[in-house]
Amino acid sequence: MRIRQTEKRQQAERKSERAPQVAIMSDEAPTPTQQQQQQQPEQEKPQDEPPQESASSPAAEEQQQPVSWRAVVLTGYGGYDKVRLQVKTHDKPRPKAGEVLVRVKACGLNFAELLGRQGLYDLLPAPPVVMGMEGSGVIEAVGDGVEDRKVGDRVIVFSRSGVWQELVVVSATCTFPMPEQMSFEDGAAIPINYLTAYMMLFDVANLRPEKSVLIHMAAGGVGIAATQLCQTVQDVTIFGTASASKHEAIVQGGVTHPIDYRTKDYVEEIHKISSKGVDIVLDPLGGSDTQKGFGLLKPLGILIVFGAANCVTGQRKNLLAMAKTWYNQLSLNTLKLMQANKAIAGFHLGHLSEELVSRTMTKLLELYVQGKIKPHIDSRYHFEEVADAMRRMHERQNIGKIILLPEPKKEEEEPKSNAEPAEKVEKTESAANEKKEEAAEEVKEEKD
Ligand SMILES: NC(=O)c1ccc[n+]([C@@H]2O[C@H](COP(=O)([O-])OP(=O)(O)OC[C@H]3O[C@@H](n4cnc5c(N)ncnc54)[C@H](OP(=O)(O)O)[C@@H]3O)[C@@H](O)[C@H]2O)c1
Repeated sequence: MRIRQTEKRQQAERKSERAPQVAIMSDEAPTPTQQQQQQQPEQEKPQDEPPQESASSPAAEEQQQPVSWRAVVLTGYGGYDKVRLQVKTHDKPRPKAGEVLVRVKACGLNFAELLGRQGLYDLLPAPPVVMGMEGSGVIEAVGDGVEDRKVGDRVIVFSRSGVWQELVVVSATCTFPMPEQMSFEDGAAIPINYLTAYMMLFDVANLRPEKSVLIHMAAGGVGIAATQLCQTVQDVTIFGTASASKHEAIVQGGVTHPIDYRTKDYVEEIHKISSKGVDIVLDPLGGSDTQKGFGLLKPLGILIVFGAANCVTGQRKNLLAMAKTWYNQLSLNTLKLMQANKAIAGFHLGHLSEELVSRTMTKLLELYVQGKIKPHIDSRYHFEEVADAMRRMHERQNIGKIILLPEPKKEEEEPKSNAEPAEKVEKTESAANEKKEEAAEEVKEEKD
């Protein structure tokens, strides 16, 4: 009986999660305060600070007219319902010295945003906050002292937060001119996935011909970027773990040996093919997988730890999974490391200097123009569908990059996805676990 009540509650919650969450903050709206109160609890006040404005000039004063723009705001930590589309109405944002105003055309969704929504990503400022670390668009205004960007330039934007909105003011140094042939979607898909993959493979691991690499989450954004970059070096063998339904795609993309980590022990599978193991392991998982990765290294091999996806099981924070990941993490002393002839490195793009990022971005844009890299777009969602976009990644359905589009969805529009509809894709462990955990939590609550 209790379980039946729980199921009903979950169904109702799921329905409400799917509904677009639009909080109108327009000054012209009839009763904006009332709407806010109805749609958001008191502690989840929306972020309504306009981007900073610069000292006035005649041209700037002309811009001083109220405009409305859409923004995806994290209103508190938790499930999909904490991420809301809001419409802001303010004077047109004006860039300060060294900044530019960008009209955003496309944005990238990253695993970090799933972590951020759960309160597990330290670089995301506390809510309420506009989410989003990457996007692309057109420069609409430039601040004083900006010499190398002009109005009308198509640019990639890479910033710590705040990019998931139609109008964003960022430092000019956070923008990168897009090659002519690059689409806005490709521009939005490049920064985080490709910077991360490039710097790990070439700056940290010093990838060279005839080496072997283990890429986990090989069908995801970073995974596909790493696979493409490995192919810029001769005779690199790529072991890639991914759900079985994605193997055809990753093999086409260049993975030499796809491994279904959900039904097979990937360590055994790799040893069957290469008894000595691999030269490079890229580890976005953490916990026991870091230990396995270290064990798989050949002498002089390197393990690069760059994520903790094992902490994430469902849409809400799972303390048990976090504790398990932490408990199982690799722990060893430096003497053992020396005797093992192996290296361990950490990588976090968010803690690197603008100079390093900018240098690598220049190389990536060259590779794009040469046709050596090209983001694989999995699907596109409009801002009002952000919960569905996050669900797609949580439920391990994406092959490549999920794109968010600021423009409102047209009524008649078909879903713009390369992948199969969610119902057709095999039911995932994470989705099943999530249900189990939520049911368990609720049954426990009822008992209490
Ligand atoms: N340190 C850094 O600077 C940095 C920068 C970027 C990304 N990262 C890390 O790199 C990893 C990949 O990021 P991404 O943005 O490219 O995401 P992504 O790979 O597109 O993420 C989704 C895919 O990962 C796989 N997956 C494995 N464990 C999962 C889990 N617990 N929950 C959901 N999916 C899981 C699923 O595919 P399969 O089931 O097919 O494997 C899923 O489709 C993440 O761990 C992220 O935190 C780190």
